[in-house]
Amino acid sequence: MNASKSVQDVQFKPRRIGHGNFFVSDLERSMAYYEHVFGLQVVFREPGIGAGFLSNGNSHHDVGLIEIPKKTLIGRDGQVQVPVKEERKPGLNHIGLEMESEAHLVAAYERAMAAGAPVHRTVDHTIAYSVYMFDPDGYYLEFYADSQDDWRAIMEEKSEQLLTGDWTPDPAVASDVPKYVVETERRTVEGAPLQPHRAARASLFVRDLATSIDFYADIVGLTLVAGSAADGYAVFAGTVGSWDLGLFQVGEDATTPRMHHFGFELSSPIELETVMERLRAAGARVEGQIVHATKQSVCVRDPDGILFEFYFQQSRDAAALQNPPKDPAFLV
Ligand SMILES: [Fe+2]
Repeated sequence: MNASKSVQDVQFKPRRIGHGNFFVSDLERSMAYYEHVFGLQVVFREPGIGAGFLSNGNSHHDVGLIEIPKKTLIGRDGQVQVPVKEERKPGLNHIGLEMESEAHLVAAYERAMAAGAPVHRTVDHTIAYSVYMFDPDGYYLEFYADSQDDWRAIMEEKSEQLLTGDWTPDPAVASDVPKYVVETERRTVEGAPLQPHRAARASLFVRDLATSIDFYADIVGLTLVAGSAADGYAVFAGTVGSWDLGLFQVGEDATTPRMHHFGFELSSPIELETVMERLRAAGARVEGQIVHATKQSVCVRDPDGILFEFYFQQSRDAAALQNPPKDPAFLV
């Protein structure tokens, strides 16, 4: 891709992946599973748009779930939240990328608009401001900056109301004070087989890895830490330095790009066999376990079959990625 100078300069530079948002076929079934199997606390519901949010304290939500709508969902200020689509299936809706501050978000938004980057919409989520954009494969990205000191208080006050309305980014009023959670008061779900520390990673198949690498480096502003178009994979980090994104070239037989899995980071090593047993006892759809130089993990599907990995990052030695696990899409 011959990116123009201005496109190369867009550089949102998010800190990290803050959440994943997924379409599910049965909201209540999935909310219960994400809470009692994945170990994420339920923090908020938006019945008006069939959505629920779960968190373990790092952010207002590590996971957002939306039941596949039968009609177009309209939020606050007449915002079209989810357009109805016949072909919509359970799976990734969008990836939330946490920004340093509202001022960083607004400045990046202005660079994106000036460069003609594919900005889709801007919204005020009451607890955060967001800029949405599609990547070259149509994956939906949300760059968001938290806007409140105490998101729990807002969520209690607005319990079950619609949160999302219009927002016009304005550099004159944008705060440069970081509002993301620094000291995590870690919450866990008692009895859950998994107790993840945070939403952390997405692993995506893409049609044209070279184009995607340019997009994620130039426009998203992530740092390439391993891989290349010639290698068939690329690993990117946000400014925090964790490995947030894995991109993989789709094989010749694959027709559509898709998310391979979404990752949650664990804060300490786990006894893999014990966790696997507890997952099976809880009726979880366990895919397997991975032991690699960089991580140990368990892989589990949600009730709709969406694949999640819960990993403890043992090292971030990029050289170790040259020896991928048996399924290379679990490289990160
Ligand atoms: Fe989101």
